[in-house]
Amino acid sequence: MIKKGIILAGGLGTRMSPITKSINKQLLPIYDKPLIYYPISILMLAGIKQILIIVNKGSIPQFKKILQDGRNFGIKISYAEQNQPKGLPDAFKIGKKFIANDNVALILGDNFFYGQSLTEKLEKASKLKKGAIVFVYPVKNPNRFGVAEIKKNKIVTLKEKPKKTKSNLAVTGLYLFDNSVIQKTLKLKFSKRKELEIIDLLNIYKKNKLLKFEHLGRGAAWLDAGTIDDFNQTSMFVSSIEKRQGLKIACLEEIALIKKWINRKNIKDAISFYGNCEYSKYLKNLF
Ligand code: G1P
Repeated sequence: MIKKGIILAGGLGTRMSPITKSINKQLLPIYDKPLIYYPISILMLAGIKQILIIVNKGSIPQFKKILQDGRNFGIKISYAEQNQPKGLPDAFKIGKKFIANDNVALILGDNFFYGQSLTEKLEKASKLKKGAIVFVYPVKNPNRFGVAEIKKNKIVTLKEKPKKTKSNLAVTGLYLFDNSVIQKTLKLKFSKRKELEIIDLLNIYKKNKLLKFEHLGRGAAWLDAGTIDDFNQTSMFVSSIEKRQGLKIACLEEIALIKKWINRKNIKDAISFYGNCEYSKYLKNLF
């Protein structure tokens, strides 16, 4: 079972400047809650209770102000700083002590996942003992992402932002790794964009026949809130579903309550923490 998860919430958010000049992107709202709530919810739904959030230098206090140590959500959140963006696998260097001898999930702080069968898929995948698992999803513009070409139910090639590709399957920003990820990361070299590349890391697993994949499925939604337009579209998506159903996506207290990680008293504490707002009203209706 994967018990630990890392959220990579560093980066300068330059594509969203000037908004991100003074506020970290992951603290900006996707409809009615900060972006960071969504990747946390995904890890929680996968049954992960120990979470390390990697943030930009100097921004830990901002994150702590809202998430604290995770107690309100029945989880344990710790924080680490990334001095400068060095690519996704840098998370395993920064998080080495946190990971210790365990397997680990990595999720990007600006990736949004939603779908009926997602929880089941996550629970199943998090049973991983050896190797790595990626989640693939069809997109119109695969050249913006890591792309997997799949033949006979196997990943045959894995490339980062290929100019030309026959595949429309993007490798999404949620990855599960066995503990050897720490060692494998040490073998990586910086790419042309001066970053350690997740695709290079996954290719090491692939070479060793240890890379598995899951289709998120076209009935699921995967969005990345990287640019202003993507951000707004993700926000509108959440708003449409929440308004229709009257149910919230990524209400961390609700997920924790369903999982019995917290109780009524914690919900009451959360309500007084958030104050008089729509989110608190929703929490009040949970019991
Ligand atoms: C990163 C990864 C890419 C992946 C994408 C998902 O891209 O390098 O393989 O498909 O996240 O959001 P980047 O955000 O660094 O452009």
